Amino acid sequence: MTGSQSGRRFSRRVGEIEPFHVVEVLQRATELEAAGRDVVHLAAGEPDFATAAPIIAAGQASLGRGETAYSGAAGIPALREALSSFYASQYGLDISPSRIMITPGASGALLLLSALLVNPGEGMLMTDPGYPCNRHFLRLVEGEGQLVPVGADTRYQLNETLVAQHWRDNTVGVMVASPANPTGAVLSEDDLRGLSRAVRARKGYLVVDEIYHGLGYDAATPSVLQVDPDAFVINSFSKYFGMTGWRLGWLVAPEDAVAEMEKLAQNLFISMSTTAQHAALAGFEPATRDILEQRRDVFRQRRDFLVPAVAQLGFDVPLKPQGAFYIYADASRFTNDSQAFCLKLLEQHGVALTPGIDFGHHKAMQHLRFSYTTSLERLEIAVERLAGVLGESGGL
Ligand SMILES: Cc1ncc(COP(=O)(O)O)c(C=O)c1O
Repeated sequence: MTGSQSGRRFSRRVGEIEPFHVVEVLQRATELEAAGRDVVHLAAGEPDFATAAPIIAAGQASLGRGETAYSGAAGIPALREALSSFYASQYGLDISPSRIMITPGASGALLLLSALLVNPGEGMLMTDPGYPCNRHFLRLVEGEGQLVPVGADTRYQLNETLVAQHWRDNTVGVMVASPANPTGAVLSEDDLRGLSRAVRARKGYLVVDEIYHGLGYDAATPSVLQVDPDAFVINSFSKYFGMTGWRLGWLVAPEDAVAEMEKLAQNLFISMSTTAQHAALAGFEPATRDILEQRRDVFRQRRDFLVPAVAQLGFDVPLKPQGAFYIYADASRFTNDSQAFCLKLLEQHGVALTPGIDFGHHKAMQHLRFSYTTSLERLEIAVERLAGVLGESGGL
């Protein structure tokens, strides 16, 4: 139970939700910068590009037209239709707009799905390392994230065998991300088919977070909907569309779940930002897509520079990330305390990284996440700074 300063108590659930540990690193970075130090930021979980100009212009035009009212719990019809066309052109899928709900970010979609699928005392399987908020959303609805330790042997993803091994009496489904945060690991069509088989055999739910779709650099990033029309998909305008601060995402649900989802969304959110939805419509215009595809190329170039450079520094990167903008590096040669190590690298060498403890428990003290959400020039500076320390002394 958590206490407030006045001595009153807060709920047990809030006491069990962890903060983002990287915040301590970021706060220190701000202090150092205020004192005149230069910090290379490799900790951000968002693109370093401003939202593309046509999207901003569409948002401004919508405001100019006075479109400032609530917009309905499922989102504006034009955006749901645009997404339906996007699934047709991008994946060859026929998804009715009625199955697409606009949400306040993927975060809103995760909250909705947690509330829809999980009873108190039930849980969903998820990877450790993985996106930490997933288990916290389940905690909020009195459920639990059932963390499955994963490593390079399963490409940091769940598979049919792991699902079979870890499924418990109170498990109701599997929640995965592809490409994943923090590993950039992508699930192939075969991988998705295997997960779907395992979940169906247990009459469970398969939820796939596809928020980093569009940011794949090698093979295709298939949608789970290509192999399982009953799966739930979470997605967002935050990453590929570069709209983190607009707070807009979506989810695709099976037809029989839509009415209940909408009821929940009415109660939880009433509506998403109307301006953000009108702005997002411009994300599908060819001119905007050209900008977004150029940005994807920039991310690929950064990845291709940083992965070998990180390995050269002495970190182990057993799986080349295929998507998102992260590298999950094994730092066990240097540390057993990822948080303290990140603070030291910042303090002594001006490089901000995210400690593994932000992504779960499994080997979390020995891992760090590098985000390549800064320019190639800044990445080079970071590598130079770290080469000086890690290369020569073998650690700090
Ligand atoms: C895997 C994953 N899912 C969901 C989110 C939440 O994104 P948003 O609410 O901005 O759409 C993030 C953000 O970093 C993420 O990495």
